[in-house]
Formats: sequence, structure tokens, C-alpha cells
Amino acid sequence: MRMEELVALCKRRGFLFQSSEIYGGLNGFWDYGPLGVLLKRNVKDAWWNDMIARHNELLQLPGAPSKFSMVGLDCSIIMHPQVWKCSGHYDLFHDFMIDCRESKKRYRFDHIKGRWVTGLKHGENGAPAERVRVFVTTIETENELEALEEAALKFFGLRKKDADKLEWEDDEILGIDSFPNNDFSQVVGPDAKHVGTLTEPREFNLMFKTTVGALGGEEDAAFLRPETAQGIFVNFKNVVDSVQARVPFGVGQIGKSFRNEITPRNFTFRSREFEQMEIEFFCHPSESADWYRYWRDRRFQWYVDMGLAGERLRMREHEQAELAHYSVGTADIEYAFPFLPEGEFGELEGVAHRGDFDLRSHAEGKLVREGDQLVLEKDANGAPKWRGSGKDMSFYDDLRKERFIPHVIEPSSGADRATLAFLCESYKVDKAPTSEEGKEEDRVYLKLHPRIAPIKAAILPLVKKDGMPEVAAEIYGELKKKMPVQYNEKGAVGRRYRRQDEIGTPFCVTVDGQTLQDGTVTLRDRDTLEQTRVKKDELLVEIQQRIGE
Ligand code: GAP
Repeated sequence: MRMEELVALCKRRGFLFQSSEIYGGLNGFWDYGPLGVLLKRNVKDAWWNDMIARHNELLQLPGAPSKFSMVGLDCSIIMHPQVWKCSGHYDLFHDFMIDCRESKKRYRFDHIKGRWVTGLKHGENGAPAERVRVFVTTIETENELEALEEAALKFFGLRKKDADKLEWEDDEILGIDSFPNNDFSQVVGPDAKHVGTLTEPREFNLMFKTTVGALGGEEDAAFLRPETAQGIFVNFKNVVDSVQARVPFGVGQIGKSFRNEITPRNFTFRSREFEQMEIEFFCHPSESADWYRYWRDRRFQWYVDMGLAGERLRMREHEQAELAHYSVGTADIEYAFPFLPEGEFGELEGVAHRGDFDLRSHAEGKLVREGDQLVLEKDANGAPKWRGSGKDMSFYDDLRKERFIPHVIEPSSGADRATLAFLCESYKVDKAPTSEEGKEEDRVYLKLHPRIAPIKAAILPLVKKDGMPEVAAEIYGELKKKMPVQYNEKGAVGRRYRRQDEIGTPFCVTVDGQTLQDGTVTLRDRDTLEQTRVKKDELLVEIQQRIGE
């Protein structure tokens, strides 16, 4: 599947629109259309129901070290600025960016990739041609080799048919972050015509800054949260005290997060405003490694169950050097998004063992790692750099007769990335009959899991007469009370099936001549194309069973 095809379908059928499109759009922001909002809501509902709402704390789930409980939270987006100082985001949540003096564009440092190439460069203003060796670059794309060839042709002023005049040094594509001393004098920026126009990399904090209240001084500065997690940590005591939560327990939250990403791209994959589905799971330190494995495996299986089964989904344990400042173990659940170069995977969810870093930071102040210890970070005068709340973040376990600061396991997932992965995976093309005569044509369909499909069923009278529309409208009205369904009576029924297939509707209900005689309708399955006759009174239960909720 080519990504452009899916992007076009998303716009044409109302899944995703560029934000503020009529004004030219705003990079990194997206709007979910009438079908997209249903799809994403279903993804979030599936997560919420499977992880939180339907969790039974009285049962020991397979693979879980013990029974546990789960509750939810919905915290504010803007929090006390001290939250971000103690969490480390204020000092550490940045990317390195690099500017191009020629194109005036800004790039994420680690995204610029390239190859060494030599060619004959014609001098400007009649100067003689000379052989030049440069490092041409592109930013990560689906087809980097092609993009680099184009960049080299542009730099040497050659046409495509002269591509064999270029002498490439080796096949390996290198990042400019591997250059010693940031010497970019021989580098041609991704959108530049000249060599040596890239600046030194600079740090750029990813948090969106805003002002609280009317006075607007620096002391009123606040931040839009870059993750939902911190709202859970700072409410740890509130949750324990209000619902008598006992460790081990998890707190889940779904909500918007904001990051001023330097290079938002790849559709919704890297946006500046996005939604997260996060769990902070609190457990006894001695059991935390077991809980980490439990959540890692359970979250992976969730994606498989929701339809990402196959070699495009994988789990990857982080190397020690890759771990976030707070983490003693992290695994990423990754998907091979079609916009990534062949063989590359993008993160869908991170499952991190965060130890006691977060609760201790909010109690004591910002912590840093010294060897294998977490210690309070000090300023030049030896005072704590950022003071914590001073509140007691420990938990007293009356069964163990022990007070301890729980360890945290964090499965942190992106609702937009999950939705995008489900869309990518579900996009299928096969051959199927379009008309009643059985003529076969290419059929594009979204093989979405029925739980997340935006429309569960379409109700279609075979023809617009003989009382069929009336019966179909009645069925539509009954089903609509329970699930999102559509009614369509226009055009050949084969074409109407196609329109539903393209938006992933798992079932089509057709009212035909036989319905008027015996009260049965045909129920067509999107994936198998199988049609079965079902009594119209039993339709709701049949569809609900097939959805599998
Ligand atoms: N609390 C931990 C945390 O926020 P993260 O790996 O930075 O960890 C978790 O983010 C998930 O949030 C990612 O796996 C991804 O699904 C989603 N996410 C992060 N940044 C995103 C962005 N700019 N656009 C869309 N989704 C994003």
C-alpha cells in the first residue's frame, strides 16, 4: 500500500483533515472527520474498556504476578510549573535542531541523513568546472536513496539521465549526527543548493509555553502537558486516600498532550497535539520486574487482538544506552508504518519500568542518576535545583506491614499512532464482484476489527420501491439505538457495498423481496463476502455477537 492512497482515502471519506485547511493548514495539527472521530473514539474505548473499565480485580489474570485493581483519572492539561521542573521535562525535554541558512528551514538533527558523492561541478559565473566531493542529505523518507539521488543531481546541475555520472562512495546512509565536531562544511542541507549552509545543532525545549492569568509575567508562565503521566503521579496520594487503592494497582488516563515537535510529519505519526492512553502501575519494588514483563506482554497482545497480528508488529527491548533518564528497562511496541524506509519500525507504545523516580521526584525534588543511585540535583550553591512538594509519596502496606515508595511500570500509548497503525494495516485491495451480474473489479476495503470500525453496519434496500425502503428504515432505526449504522438507498447495491467496504463497515444488511415474505434479510460479511440470511428480529444480537464486544 502506498501511503498517499491511504491519506487520500482518509480525506475523501472523512477520516482525517488537515487542521485549518482553508487557511493553508497548520503543520503538526490534524482534525478527525465524521468517520475518523468514530474510529479514534472506538480505539480509545477499546483501550479504556479492556484496561480499566472491565478489569476484574477479583480474578488473577493469566500471566499476572497477583490480583490487582485499575482505576481512571482525567487530569488538567495545564499543571503547576513545578511539576515539569521536578519531572525533568523543564531541563531535559528537548531535541537538537539545526537550521539551514539558505533554505531557512529547521530540521531535527537526528533526522538528517545522507551519502558521500563526487561529481563535476560547474563553476558559477563562468568559473571552470571542478570535481567536488560533498555529503548530500535528505530527511528520513520512505525512499531515501531516490531522494538522495535527486539532491545530488540538483547540486551538480545534472538531469536524471546523467545519474551515472555521480560517483557514490558506499551504500550506507549516514546521519549527520555522526560527524565529528559538527563540521558540516561539506554537507549540502536537505533543501539547499549550496554546500555548508547548516548551522551548529541547538537545544530546543518541546513544551508549549503559555501564560496563566491576565498579568502575563514570567512568574505566570505555564506549560501544556507533554504527557498525561505526570497528572497521575501528582495524584497518587489522592487516589490511594479516596478509593483506598492498594498496591498493586494501576491508574489509567486518556487525554491530549502537546509537544512542539521540530519536524512534525508522516501524517498523524508525529503531531504537535495528540492523545495518549497511559497507565501508571504502582507495585512493590521486589515485584516490579515481574510486573514490567506482564505489562509489556499484555500490551503487545492487545495490538495483536485488535488486528495488528503479523510481521509488521514487533517488540523491541531498549539497549541500556537508549533508556530514558528515569528508566531501568523499557520495551517499545513498534509497527512498520508504510511511510518508513523498508525494514524500519516506528514506536506505537513504550512500556517503561520507571522505578521510584517519579514519586520520589515529586516528593523530594528533581533527581538525577549518579551511578546506580538517584540523587537530588543541586545548584551551584549546593541547594536543591528544583524542590519537590515535600509530601509523603510512600504507601503503607498493612499486609506486608511495610512502608515503601512504589515502583512504577508505565505502558504509554498514543491514540493517534494506534489509530494510524490500524488504518495502515487494514488497507486492503482484492477482487470482488461490483454488480449483481458478478463482474469482478478491484475492491479497496479497510479490514478494521469490528470493535473499532466506525460504522458497524449499513442498511440497504435492494431497490427503492416495493416497500423495501420502509422496512430498511425501520431496521435502521432499531439498530441506530445501539450502534453507529448507515442507511443508503442510492445506486446499484454492488456500488453501495463498495462504499461501505472502503470505510471498513464490517456488515451490510440488505432488504430484498424475500424480506417482505419471510422477514429475513441478507447479512454480508466485508472480509469473506459471504451472505447469510438472518431473521430481522435477530439481527441486532447476531451483529453484536459478530462484533465480539
Ligand atoms: N509518559 C511517557 C511518554 O510520554 P513517549 O514515548 O514520549 O512516552 C508515549 O510517548 C507515546 O505517545 C508514544 O509511543 C506515541 O504513541 C505517542 N506520541 C509521543 N509523541 C507523539 C507525537 N508527537 N505525535 C503523536 N503521538 C506521539
